[in-house]
Amino acid sequence: MLNKIIDRLKYEIKTVRRLLYHRLYVSPKSEKEVVERFHQLFYNAHLFGETWGKTRWLGVPTLKCPLDMWVYQEILFEERPDLIVECGTASGGSALYLASVCDLIGHGKILTVDLDEQPDRPGHPRITYLRGSSTSGDILDQVRAAIRPADRVLVILDSDHHQSHVLEELRLYGPLVSPGSRLIVEDTNLNGHPIDPEFGPGPMEAVEEFLKTHPEFEVDSSKEKFLMTFNPRGYLKKIGPA
Ligand SMILES: C[S@@+](CC[C@H](N)C(=O)[O-])C[C@H]1O[C@@H](n2cnc3c(N)ncnc32)[C@H](O)[C@@H]1O
Repeated sequence: MLNKIIDRLKYEIKTVRRLLYHRLYVSPKSEKEVVERFHQLFYNAHLFGETWGKTRWLGVPTLKCPLDMWVYQEILFEERPDLIVECGTASGGSALYLASVCDLIGHGKILTVDLDEQPDRPGHPRITYLRGSSTSGDILDQVRAAIRPADRVLVILDSDHHQSHVLEELRLYGPLVSPGSRLIVEDTNLNGHPIDPEFGPGPMEAVEEFLKTHPEFEVDSSKEKFLMTFNPRGYLKKIGPA
């Protein structure tokens, strides 16, 4: 018993020492720098077919940072959405990931929209694929028709990442998000936040513009807890009606 207490104390002392060293030798400024440099390294490695360009869920390419996928899993478990609307399907890896988490929770369906067809997208009873532009009237009619009055709806924007398109999506899909639920804007890291400074105004700029006139949404920075996220300031929470 005494030995156990001594071991525990040793462990606590080690932890405190590690924290102290960390604060002494890694200033908040250099911590930010380290995270940003790693973010750039991780992101740019896809140019050589590595990291997120080589990420698969159950064998299907999934263009995400795995740290964000973990955050998604936590959000889905906490919120148990009835319907997840995803703009931007690509190979269907992210839709399959969402469906797998819904399987584990035993709840939820996925509606995923893309301009393009892709052969061999995974079939899953929880996934419905829609083809067309996320901002077209026809697609929006189909999305609205899939929402039942009491549904808890979560939306993920991961299609065309240019500011004007994302802003339009935010305006069109924001009202579909249920109060208390999430509107996740992917790839707010573009245009120098901190990757691809040449991209031009993108998702981050669209979010900033949108938030000016939409106080019903706020940035939930607690979802950036793993230090690196492809979606800085992109995890929005709907805190009011409208
Ligand atoms: C970043 S990928 C999606 C990645 C996918 N969500 C994943 O995590 O694996 C972007 C996709 O958006 C699609 N896209 C581009 N413009 C679009 C639009 N206006 N409406 C719907 N989809 C669009 C592209 O065809 C592409 O497949």
